[in-house]
Amino acid sequence: MKNNTRNKSMLFVANWKMQKTLDQSIQFVQKHIDALKALNRQIILCPSFPALYPLSQLLENSSVFLGAQDCSPHELGAYTGQVSAQSLAEVGCTYCIVGHSERRNYNKESNSEIAQKATQLLHQNIIPIICVGESQQEFEKKQSIDVLHNQLEPVFKVIESQSSASTVCIAYEPIWSIGTGNVPDTQYLQNIFDTLKEWCSAKTSKTKYTLLYGGSVTGENIQQFYQVENIDGFLVGGSSLDFQKLKKIVS
Ligand code: 13P
Repeated sequence: MKNNTRNKSMLFVANWKMQKTLDQSIQFVQKHIDALKALNRQIILCPSFPALYPLSQLLENSSVFLGAQDCSPHELGAYTGQVSAQSLAEVGCTYCIVGHSERRNYNKESNSEIAQKATQLLHQNIIPIICVGESQQEFEKKQSIDVLHNQLEPVFKVIESQSSASTVCIAYEPIWSIGTGNVPDTQYLQNIFDTLKEWCSAKTSKTKYTLLYGGSVTGENIQQFYQVENIDGFLVGGSSLDFQKLKKIVS
């Protein structure tokens, strides 16, 4: 497929992590909303929780979508500090990242908890972006495929038990590539994405799987990822914070 055609259908997810304040998030969108729309691509902005509502107002009726960075594994209840998938739906989120390696690491999230989060999101018709990826040590020991298998197994189980059709994004983010400038080579990535595609194709439900790559994606290295078949989009951290850098990736 020509890069141009493929680019059009690609998904670009901006994970702002905790890098922008509420004011900075609002200012970014106010300043760049017209230019974002003009890019005519599938762009999803994921700010931190307080910015979701104001951004949903600014992005209303636009082609730019809103995503959260996490949600509770519970429906509702006495869970201080957590945010339910239902609230995210009410605030206008179409997507939500779950299982990011930073949450797996700092918040000790387990694979089954991440699967529960995905279930809550699917009940609210929010598309989960489920992050998976191996550590540097696991990469060196050639354990990547086993790690991904373990991370995805509980997720596949809950997704496949859903009766209604849904869309699910799986984001492969090798931990050693996040924020480091190091990216996997094309051959290695091709093997990973062929495997992920094979696993998803073997599933019997009506779920549509979208496969993303994340880890040090920039406007300078994006071309090399287009050589890898089965990558449907990108989850971008650092380079999504600056509009010109994001634009370079997207266009
Ligand atoms: P960087 O693009 O900064 O490497 O971050 C990737 C990431 O963690 C996106 O979720």
